[in-house]
This record gives sequence, structure tokens and C-alpha cells, in this order.
Amino acid sequence: MEKLFRIKRYDPEGGPSPGWQEFHVSLGPYERLLDGLIRIKDTIDGSLTFRRSCAHGMCGSCAMKINGKSALACQTLAKDTRGTVVFEPLPAFPVIKDLAVDMDAFYEKNSSVMPYLLNDEPYLLNDRYYLLNDRPGPERERPQSPKELERILDQIKCILCGCCTSACPVYWADRDYLGPAALVKASRFILDSRDRAGGESERLQKIAGAHGL
Ligand code: FES
Repeated sequence: MEKLFRIKRYDPEGGPSPGWQEFHVSLGPYERLLDGLIRIKDTIDGSLTFRRSCAHGMCGSCAMKINGKSALACQTLAKDTRGTVVFEPLPAFPVIKDLAVDMDAFYEKNSSVMPYLLNDEPYLLNDRYYLLNDRPGPERERPQSPKELERILDQIKCILCGCCTSACPVYWADRDYLGPAALVKASRFILDSRDRAGGESERLQKIAGAHGL
């Protein structure tokens, strides 16, 4: 099928201020919009800039605004779009070039909720108890039942693409707001049966602050 891609372009190095450019692309119905963008870059305009890596909805790199909604270009089939397909960079994040945005603030917010297990309980190894600080880490996983895993199963699926935070009206109004992705990440550890941060933890205080929940 023939698709018309309408892409918002921006070149920070002296190019014209943000503007639109259209490209005709030939795509099979089961090809993804990312395939079309790669085709444009490979055969029509090598300066077109966007991120992508896995092409399988796992890395989150290809998040952009597609026909008005934040989405992954590698997870959107050509057959599921009608008429002209409009591409813009994710809203609310500073644009670096074309469809590539600066994710630094987004990742910093994610880091600020301490996205790792807090657990200083001793663990048993070769009939001896060790603390985490005594050795690099447990040689065996800390066991978790399927039921305990269920509590965090949805949160674990987050691939940090930034779609939710960039589409959040609260984030549009307050760039210090942690945003849904960081809060989901925090809940992933708060609800983890192996985490021992407890009710007064730095993590909970962080998300309960003025720019959190
Ligand atoms: S390229 Fe990895 S999620 Fe789309």
C-alpha cells in the first residue's frame, strides 16, 4: 500500500525552524511504520532523525507521537493506519532533532525513585549467613512465589519508552513532576516481596513529595 508520511522536522544546527515534510512510502500491510521511516532514511533522506533499536517493542527507543497519540513506531502496523500518517516528536520532552527527543530528565526521574531492590537481610550460603555488603551479592536468587510475582507483573513490563509521561497533562504543567513511568517503577519495587525498604523509606518519601503522588 502507498502511504503518505507527514513528518515534523527540526534541525537545531541552523536549519529552518520546525516544519513539516511529506514522503510517499510503499509499505506492505504487515510492515510497521518504523519500516517506513527506515526506508525513507535509507533511500530518500538520510538526514531524517529518529531512534530505534530492537524493532520489537522491547527497548522503547522508537516512541513518538503518531497521528496524535504517543506510540511505538515498531508496534504500529501500516494496515492499522488510515490516510496520511502524521509523525511528531514525543510532546513535553525537548527536541534534539526531528523525532529524537532528550530523555535525560525522564531517566533522572526514574533513577530518583531508587529503582533497585533494597534488602540488607542476611542470606544463607554454604551454611553461613552473609550480608549483601560482605560479598558481591547472593549466589542464589531470593525466592518469590508466582502469587508474589503477580503483584508486580504489569509494572515489570514497562520498557521506559516515555509515552505515558510525555502524554501526561500533569507533567505538561509541572516538569518536576515524577510522572507515571517513574511512579510505576517505584511501585514495581514497593510491591516486590523481596524489597525491605519499609514504610519510611527514602523511596516512599520521594514519591509522596510535592512533585510525586
Ligand atoms: S525499536 Fe525498540 S521498542 Fe521500537
